[in-house]
Amino acid sequence: MVISIKKICCIGAGYVGGPTMAVMSFKCPEVLINVVDVNQERIDAWNSEDLSKLPIYEPGLKEIVGKTRDKNLFFSTRIKESIENADMIFISVNTPTKKKGLGAGKASDLKWVETSAREVAKFSKGHTIVVEKSTLPVRTAEVIQKILKSAEKESKKQIKSFSVLSNPEFLAEGTAINDLLNPDRVLIGGDNKEAMSSLSQIYKKWVSENKILFTNIWSSELAKLTSNAFLAQRISSINSISSICEVTGADIREVSRSIGKDTRIGSKFLDSGPGFGGSCFKKDILNLVYLAEYFGLKDVAKFWESVVEMNNWHQKRIAEKVVQKLFGTLANKKIIILGFSFKANTNDTRESAAINICKDLINEGANLIIHDPKVSPTQIENDLRIKQSNSFELNEITYKKDQGNWQFSRNLDKFDNAHAVLILTEWEDFKNINWIDAARKMVSPAWVFDSRSIVNPIKVKEAGLNLWRLGDGIQNDN
Ligand code: NAD
Ligand code: UGA
Repeated sequence: MVISIKKICCIGAGYVGGPTMAVMSFKCPEVLINVVDVNQERIDAWNSEDLSKLPIYEPGLKEIVGKTRDKNLFFSTRIKESIENADMIFISVNTPTKKKGLGAGKASDLKWVETSAREVAKFSKGHTIVVEKSTLPVRTAEVIQKILKSAEKESKKQIKSFSVLSNPEFLAEGTAINDLLNPDRVLIGGDNKEAMSSLSQIYKKWVSENKILFTNIWSSELAKLTSNAFLAQRISSINSISSICEVTGADIREVSRSIGKDTRIGSKFLDSGPGFGGSCFKKDILNLVYLAEYFGLKDVAKFWESVVEMNNWHQKRIAEKVVQKLFGTLANKKIIILGFSFKANTNDTRESAAINICKDLINEGANLIIHDPKVSPTQIENDLRIKQSNSFELNEITYKKDQGNWQFSRNLDKFDNAHAVLILTEWEDFKNINWIDAARKMVSPAWVFDSRSIVNPIKVKEAGLNLWRLGDGIQNDN
């Protein structure tokens, strides 16, 4: 029997759980949605009256939350009660790479998924459809099913039963709301046709039927990992070509445009940048590597691992380029870092290329002024594991010779006495900098390093600044 879903519980109020359920509540006003999390602070932020204080910055998110919150969308830590009442439960918890034990450094840590499954097993009532929303290694559904099956057997008084589905999320941060409202596809993996149909009824409220794909559960899990691996592979490929451009006199923007016109290749995901960041690409590829190794497919594992290795090498090479252009030393030099988030339009810094690049520059002795419109200084402090300096004078006394430091600036006006500007995130504001004004304040000679291809090279050069652009073998003085 196809159940019409009336109450949903989503375990995990993060970058996926929050926006996904906000859009679902907006499109399905008749469905009651409880988003629960163990993190009280995060839940409080989701409930904050001032919608600009939501824990996640995503264009369009606060408008939707403003319309549905406390109507059919609720954020709380009431996990037991929300599970008990739900017909359908989304598991949307974090699945980072394991730090220790078997598979450390590659396999996903499933402890949060397992805890969630145990809670569902314990508290649910009647028949419950359990949906894997988190990105999971292939065959994780089996683990969830085993935990739930044991609850089915144990529940003597009440009859409990479960169907497990895989419904991976493909949203990208910064465009999450648009991606959720207009997905390329919705993937539903499972073997219980009725449960699959119940879930598809929800998506059909706003997604056309031909975009809803049904697969077996293992294909669905593997398709999600493969999708991220293919996207990341394109970025490592184009970044590797950018280094060839620089030594041969070619220009990566021209190469990207030319190959992207081939409809078999397509034009998306061909922007060379400082290296891919974000919480998922690296972890999902490493997960694929682990899977391949586990099944003895060594060459397959090596192939995918090289995508991550290329990304690491590429991030290092950007920091090295800055050192090289600034006469081989950054000691006591002031460098303005523009952008710390892993991409524009998000406050997320997980695996941001800016983290490693800034650490490398600080190690070389640079004093950084880090500017980002959405990332907080506390977050940067956590990521760099270096306390923000009150003043660079203090820094000279406190820190070892050659060890640099950093300060945060929310405003884009700190160019005084800077030796260089390094653009790491493609925020819109950075496209409209008045380079003549900036050059007046900077030391001479000064450099602009553009790893995102967003500045107008003519304007930078007219301002009397030296310019280095990623993959620019024509204008760069290599
Ligand atoms: P996140 O860390 O932002 O959020 C996860 C939340 O789950 C946290 O708030 C945590 O407190 C909560 N949580 C953990 N265990 C819990 C429990 N037992 N009960 C209640 N709450 C619990 O993670 P995220 O970025 O939202 O990612 C979640 C999953 O979605 C991951 O598997 C990720 O790979 C996948 N994914 C992420 C993105 C993205 O853009 N971030 C996109 C697609 C898929
Ligand atoms: C990515 C995928 O795009 C989503 O489909 C997926 O759901 C998500 O991972 C996930 O599973 O977490 P996300 O990491 O949010 O989304 O952002 P992307 O737009 O994919 O960007 C990832 C990184 O690649 C960023 O650092 C970005 O700057 C970089 N990038 C992207 C480039 O350097 N060049 C490009 O052309 C595109």
